[in-house]
Amino acid sequence: MSSSRDHANGESTSDIANDDNTATVAPNKVTDEEIEVIKSRKLEGLTIPLKQNVQAKNISTYLEYVMLIHNALPELDIEEIDASTTFMGHRFSAPIIIDSMTGGTDEATVINERLAQVAEELNLGMGVGSQRAGLLSDALMESYSIARKSAPNAFLIANIGGVQLRSMTLDDVKRMIDMIDADAIAVHLNPLQELIQPEGEPRFKGIYSRIVELVKSIDIPVIVKEVGSGISRDVAVRLELAGVKAINIAGSGGTSWAGVEKLRADNSKAVMKSHLGELLWDWGIPTAMSLLEVRRSVRIGVIASGGLRNGIDIAKCIALGADMCALAWPFLKHAAESREAALDYARMLIDELRAVMFLTGARDIKALRRIRYNLQGPLLEWFKAYESR
Ligand SMILES: Cc1cc2nc3c(=O)[nH]c(=O)nc-3n(C[C@H](O)[C@H](O)[C@H](O)COP(=O)(O)O)c2cc1C
Repeated sequence: MSSSRDHANGESTSDIANDDNTATVAPNKVTDEEIEVIKSRKLEGLTIPLKQNVQAKNISTYLEYVMLIHNALPELDIEEIDASTTFMGHRFSAPIIIDSMTGGTDEATVINERLAQVAEELNLGMGVGSQRAGLLSDALMESYSIARKSAPNAFLIANIGGVQLRSMTLDDVKRMIDMIDADAIAVHLNPLQELIQPEGEPRFKGIYSRIVELVKSIDIPVIVKEVGSGISRDVAVRLELAGVKAINIAGSGGTSWAGVEKLRADNSKAVMKSHLGELLWDWGIPTAMSLLEVRRSVRIGVIASGGLRNGIDIAKCIALGADMCALAWPFLKHAAESREAALDYARMLIDELRAVMFLTGARDIKALRRIRYNLQGPLLEWFKAYESR
């Protein structure tokens, strides 16, 4: 990592939840006015996905083209089903992570507190949103650190954008990790979002070498994730070579960040950005495709994400080879309602997963990884082409 603050060279950054573009990360060095701007952008990153439809329109996860084979004679009682699993040395009660989302505004503090309480109570994983805002002031830091306060034992994942990583010092990264006493850190790759975001920075040159440096410089595992357009085989192989410990594929079929940024572009009358956002709304690799492709190319951990909405989706992803499954938007929707709503939703996901395990005769997650499934339609076509390459 850089030992000097690269922003002095004029580099600016942006992030997934529409952070400010100021690369200075010294705490309390920003004015109250600047903090208000950051807060309102972070708030927009929450309210648009909550109040407007920013889910995929004409693309799906392709999980509907995965058929799990029913087992009419499971030789199991439902009570025996064990959904717990171990990932990165942590024992989880189910292979579920609340995917990286928010921070940097008062509303995010409430959401992160509720989500962390759910993660703690049910022993699930949780990621916070892009954390650079948390480096800018103690007040903003609280919106992230609340996660660790509310979840002293849960597996928590720090978060930073690849674009931002280019202008960060190792010290900055360590402060982000310390902010939530993170068990792992996720670097998000969001080229589509950077393209559409009114203040985006679609400049990815140099991010790979930054990831390589990051892996060497810190002592917690590095995860690299997409945000809804999927990871391909070639990218996965490069990430494995970089020493990354897991890939969160975040494929298309769920929340569309081109969609979120298109609506923001409309608000700021950025006509060309809005046009691109509409055109590329559904751009990406459907989750099931990305998962199969990445799982077959690397040996490191694979987290499935992007449009997973219920326990059947989770079971299918585990059968296709995912180690863990992450969900963002549904958790946000329920947490915005109440802590109980998020807790009920998470409990329901686990119950649904256990039901599918029973119906496929899988006593535990290891067994679920070995069950028979069928691929159909365009997923099968793609798979055949992939295998013959
Ligand atoms: C409101 C919201 C904010 C998000 N912010 C971040 C972020 O700061 N960092 C990140 O890596 N991903 C972020 N994401 C992307 C999610 O982690 C996830 O990859 C993506 O939304 C796909 O999952 P979903 O279809 O279940 O929402 C965000 C998603 C949502 C819905």
